[in-house]
Amino acid sequence: MQVLVIGGGGREHALAWKISKSPLVSKVYCAPGNAGIASVAECLPIKGEDIDALVEFATANSIELTVVGPEAPLIAGIVDRFEAAGLPVFGPSHDPARLEGSKVFAKSLMESANIPTADFWICSSAHEAEDCIRTYFNDAEPGTKLVIKADGIAAGKGVIVATGESQAMAAIRRIMTDKVFGASGNQVVIEECLVGEEASIMAITDGTHIIPMLPSQDHKRALDGDLGPNTGGMGAYSPVPILPPETVDLTIERIIRPAIMAIRDLGIPYRGVLYAGIMVTEKGPMCIEFNCRFGDPETQAILPMMDCDIVPILKAVADGNLDSAEVTWKQGASVAVVAASEGYPDAFDPGMDTRPLLGRRIFGLDRIDPEDDTCVVFHSGTRFQDGAVVTSGGRVLTVTGVAEDLSSARDTAYAGLDQIQFEGIHSRKDIGSHSLGSR
Ligand SMILES: Nc1ncnc2c1ncn2[C@@H]1O[C@H](COP(=O)(O)OP(=O)(O)OP(=O)(O)O)[C@@H](O)[C@H]1O
Ligand SMILES: [Mg+2]
Repeated sequence: MQVLVIGGGGREHALAWKISKSPLVSKVYCAPGNAGIASVAECLPIKGEDIDALVEFATANSIELTVVGPEAPLIAGIVDRFEAAGLPVFGPSHDPARLEGSKVFAKSLMESANIPTADFWICSSAHEAEDCIRTYFNDAEPGTKLVIKADGIAAGKGVIVATGESQAMAAIRRIMTDKVFGASGNQVVIEECLVGEEASIMAITDGTHIIPMLPSQDHKRALDGDLGPNTGGMGAYSPVPILPPETVDLTIERIIRPAIMAIRDLGIPYRGVLYAGIMVTEKGPMCIEFNCRFGDPETQAILPMMDCDIVPILKAVADGNLDSAEVTWKQGASVAVVAASEGYPDAFDPGMDTRPLLGRRIFGLDRIDPEDDTCVVFHSGTRFQDGAVVTSGGRVLTVTGVAEDLSSARDTAYAGLDQIQFEGIHSRKDIGSHSLGSR
């Protein structure tokens, strides 16, 4: 079978790596891929947004399975286009992908399906939102927080946790008046701030059957101790002590299954992977958000823990018959540590000139044994230049360690990362240690 992976980051490297190990697969293509993905797949000079070219390539090459990594093409309806062309594809179609594409849609569905989530208000104008905020803070304690979310996708930057009325008002001005996220800010969701610890659970589904993946926790802040600005994720680990199997089951039954069933009732089943971001609160797990794709970096921590062939599972979803598939996981734990570029994330905001920070040669990649599945390097932002691998993005690569427990998995990941060097390299030194300390 020939498989096409769409995307070019660490998540897609992890997917292509796992898919390439399948005895069912004769060839993996990746569009556009990166310098690391090139070691497990043939990279194609086609971007994820170029749906016409992707459909054309998949048709011409009889691709029997396409796996879509990023949210943007899913929300744009790439799956509908592949299905219309008779091409098997893993990922939700446009309508169900609104679970990630629209916070208003997602929260309304959570409410109608009785999914535990923060109380919220939907506002369609700045005036309405300001009234809502004023009323909320009228009798609130000083220091009360409120969460403001742009409705549409905003490259992970559309959510502001505001402390006090003036910060909340400023968020509305940015999103709804200045329109910094464009039409994504036509509506906002204003929600109460939940208190607890965050983690995530992904589940693979064909719209009826559900296979949970291992839970994981990512580290969003740039610096050790959860300090510094928010990033796309500086690392992740799995499984998560705050999500023991019974809490995972509860999350599936109270959050993931009702969402999948509610989507099915709307007419188009959810096929692909559903990511639930949850807050473990005193009242149990509550849903913060849904994403319609594999998490990044979570996938880079979880796939090395998968102890079976992933391809029959992905194909069963694409074919709508997941009932026959089974997933097994390794014992132990994994830790995935991201190595980022100098200046990440601030210097990588949209509109910044990142050229002086990129193109830096990466040394030591050859010191990691590509056959060793207990210490794996996944590339996020790398490319070839004059025969060498150089940096090409804010997040450059991830080293995942797999071992019998979290502490050894950490040691393995950091020992691997110690082998790798590039000018300005930055990584957090405490991935997974929060959990180790609290056990
Ligand atoms: N109701 C809430 N209470 C407390 N914190 C919240 C709440 N909603 C969101 N947050 C915080 O804001 C972050 C981002 O929110 P959310 O996951 O909805 O946005 P997103 O932009 O879709 O994120 P991602 O890029 O991970 O998909 C959450 O990870 C959480 O830390
Ligand atoms: Mg999201």
